[in-house]
Amino acid sequence: GDNEVALVEEDLPQGRVYYNGSQLWKVLVDKRENIELLVTLREDKDISMWGGNSTTVDVLVKPNSVEKVRKIFKDNKVGFDIVIEDLQKVIDEENPAVIELDDRRGHRLTWQAYHRLTDIHGYLDYLAETYPDLCSVQTIGQSVLGKDIKVLKVSNGKPGNKAMWVDGGIHAREWISPSTVTYIINQFVTNIESEPASIQNMDWYFAPVLNPDGYEYSHTVDRLWRKNRARGVGQCSGTDLNRNFGYRWGGKGSSKNPCTETYGGSGPFSEPETASVERFIRSIQNWKAYISFHSYGQYILYPWGYDRVVPPDYKDLEAVARRAAQAIRTAGGPSYTIGPAGGTLYPASGGSDDWAKGVMKMKYAYTIELRDSGRFGFVLPANYIQPTAREALAALKVIAEAAYLA
Ligand code: ARG
Ligand code: ZN
Repeated sequence: GDNEVALVEEDLPQGRVYYNGSQLWKVLVDKRENIELLVTLREDKDISMWGGNSTTVDVLVKPNSVEKVRKIFKDNKVGFDIVIEDLQKVIDEENPAVIELDDRRGHRLTWQAYHRLTDIHGYLDYLAETYPDLCSVQTIGQSVLGKDIKVLKVSNGKPGNKAMWVDGGIHAREWISPSTVTYIINQFVTNIESEPASIQNMDWYFAPVLNPDGYEYSHTVDRLWRKNRARGVGQCSGTDLNRNFGYRWGGKGSSKNPCTETYGGSGPFSEPETASVERFIRSIQNWKAYISFHSYGQYILYPWGYDRVVPPDYKDLEAVARRAAQAIRTAGGPSYTIGPAGGTLYPASGGSDDWAKGVMKMKYAYTIELRDSGRFGFVLPANYIQPTAREALAALKVIAEAAYLA
């Protein structure tokens, strides 16, 4: 009408995406035809695929397709279990409201709920203010929509320290990942004197939320958003940041189609989020390890991800991964599968881990897929934050020890 005001993109009223009646099914893929069937159903937009292993795939079925897919599975004798009857209900119960306490000791993080970006950034700033001899915050760049990408450095400042990078939140919907990174930070900073030499004499660089636009969008609009928020040419927006790194960019498992979940962008490091990481990591020497936290599936993955091949020193990475998985079990955690990313999950090129190892020569490069194994998937209830982060810390310490000796 005449009295409409022009709105800038960020102010446009965006309706929330609801998942009422969407169901999560665990589908048996014991026959090759089952996978082909799933591919067709995905093309027809009846389902989307969340994750899986060699025997089952977790499939999200759209409300209006539930009966159709059920019939197709019955006719083709495809076995399945309904794991979530109504995804929206699980989304609504996943994250309790953050209780407002007077005594927040200068920050708002609780590790009992998933927090918004401002709480996470506020926590990093609080640490830099409170522990100036140990912690410092750097803004390494901005996202597509201008949000800061922050890195917390934790270091005793000893010359000759080796360096380790730990990131989270490359994928927006994997909320357990930023929570785990901040939990680890908290453990290190508040207990630094009781940590072993491998942790004390290490320059730590933590980037809890590498995809701040996507992270916020997954809180406010679409809980299942994965990519960044780059405006696409047509209707479709977002680049998969874990297909946008500059090693074997554009190969297997990444898509040229902006409408898909694995769109790799217009070129390597085309996105400001990944370009900021590249610039920052290149500005520092002495890297020994790179860890990227994702969810879900409980995997400790090492390069290569771009194909079913391994680097020459893969035995070193395998041995450390095995010890890390053992440490998780010792800490009371569940079993994590270890192996090379491409061969264990699926080939996917342009991943951060491959770039860290292939270009930056960081010996111990890992992608850790946190909990769970498909009961809640991406929508992991907040009461799992502490047990999941605790076991991730146990794994990280094993990797730090290896990096320290490398
Ligand atoms: N789930 C992760 C992804 O799809 C796995 C990445 C493993 N690394 C790799 N370079 N493919 O991004
Ligand atoms: Zn991920």
